[in-house]
Amino acid sequence: MTTRKLLLLPGDGIGPEAMAEVEKLVTLLNAERAAGFETERGLVGGAAYDASGDPISDADMNRAMAADAVLFGAVGGPKWDSVPYEKRPEAGLLRLRKDMSLFANLRPAICYPALAEASSLKRELVDGLDILIVRELTGGVYFGAPKEVVDLGNGQKRGIDTQIYDTYEIERIAKVAFELARTRRGRVTSMEKRNVMKSGVLWNQVVTETHKGYSDVTLDHMLADAGGMQLVRAPKQFDVIVTDNLFGDMLSDIAAMLTGSLGMLPSASLGAPDETSGQRRAMYEPVHGSAPDIAGRGIANPIAMIASFAMMLRYSFAMVDEADKLEAAIAEVLESGTRTGDIMAPGCREVGTSEMGDAVLDAFRRKL
Ligand code: NAI
Ligand code: MG
Repeated sequence: MTTRKLLLLPGDGIGPEAMAEVEKLVTLLNAERAAGFETERGLVGGAAYDASGDPISDADMNRAMAADAVLFGAVGGPKWDSVPYEKRPEAGLLRLRKDMSLFANLRPAICYPALAEASSLKRELVDGLDILIVRELTGGVYFGAPKEVVDLGNGQKRGIDTQIYDTYEIERIAKVAFELARTRRGRVTSMEKRNVMKSGVLWNQVVTETHKGYSDVTLDHMLADAGGMQLVRAPKQFDVIVTDNLFGDMLSDIAAMLTGSLGMLPSASLGAPDETSGQRRAMYEPVHGSAPDIAGRGIANPIAMIASFAMMLRYSFAMVDEADKLEAAIAEVLESGTRTGDIMAPGCREVGTSEMGDAVLDAFRRKL
C-alpha cells in the first residue's frame, strides 16, 4: 500500500482550529480511498518558540524535509510581539521556505458562484473565474544584494534594493508554469517590465526559450502594469500567470480580492525535485494569518485550509479526482447557504469552524 507522509504544522491562533477540519478529511480518505496518509504533527511559530525557544526546532525542520508534503496553518500574534527579531514566529515560516527551497508560489484565484456578489467586481466579470498565479518566491528584489540604507553624509540617506534574476531561476519557474498550464487550459501569460528593467529583458527571453519545450501550451507576454489593469478589467482572459517575486506579491493579492474573503484563499509553495526520490518538496498553506482577533472562538472559516489541502492532493499526490471532488464539495456547501461569519450574506445560515468543516466533509463523502 502507498504511504504518504504528511507533516502538519498548525502554528498559532486560528491555525490549529482550521487544521482540525483537514484532519477529518485525512481520516476519511484513509478509510474510503486507502490513501495511506501517515500524519505527524510539529510545532511552528509562537507555539514552537514557547516550547523550545525557536520558531521551528531542528527536529521539526528535519521532519518537514523528509515529508512528502507539509500543511502549514498560520503563525504569529500579539503574545510574541516582544520576541527578538530572529526568533519571531514568522522566522519559522521563512526557514521552512528557505531550507525546502520553495521557489514557486502558487496562488489560485477561484470565484465560487455562490460568492460572486462578495467580489469587488461585477458578477459577470468574476463568476466562474479560475486563474492561477505562479510567483517566483526565492529571488528578485526581496533578496538581491546590495540591500541597505546608506548614509550619504550630507543629511541624505540612500535606500537600496537590488533586483537580480539568473537564467536558472527564471527557467525553473517558467517550467512550473508551463507544466501546470498543461493540466489546465493550456495558456501562460508571463508578466515583467522589460521596457524599463534589464531583469525583465532576461525574464522575457528565458521564458520564451523555455516555452520551446512546451509547444502544446500558448505563451503571451504582458507588461506587469498592463497585466494589473487587465486583471481587474477582464480577469477571465487569464489561465496561468507567471511573474517575479515583487510583481507576483502584488498581482496575487489583487487577484485574491476579486474572489472574496481572506478566509477562502489557499496557496502552495513548490520546491525543486528531491535528489533521490525525484518528488518535489511542497508546502501548502492558507493565505490568511493567525487572526488573533477571532482566535479561540471557533468561528474561523476553515475553507482556505481545506482548499490548501485540495491543492496538496492535486499537486503532491496526483489525487486529481479527490481534489476536484473536494473543491466541488466546498462549492456545494457554499451554494446551500452554509456560511462562516466572514462570508455571511442575507438569507444564509451562519455556522462555526467545525460545523463548516463537517458540512464540507459530508458533501465530500457523498461524492467519493
Ligand atoms: P490575518 O490574516 O490574520 O487577519 C486579517 C483579518 O481577516 C482579521 O480580521 C481576521 O479575523 C480575518 N480572517 C483571516 N482569516 C480568517 C478566516 N479563516 N476566517 C475568518 N476571518 C479571517 O492578518 P493580520 O491580522 O494582519 O495578522 C495577524 C497575525 O498573523 C500577525 O501576527 C501576522 O504577522 C500573522 N500573519 C501570519 C501569516 C502566516 O502565517 N502565513 C500571514 C499573515 C499574517
Ligand atoms: Mg503579500
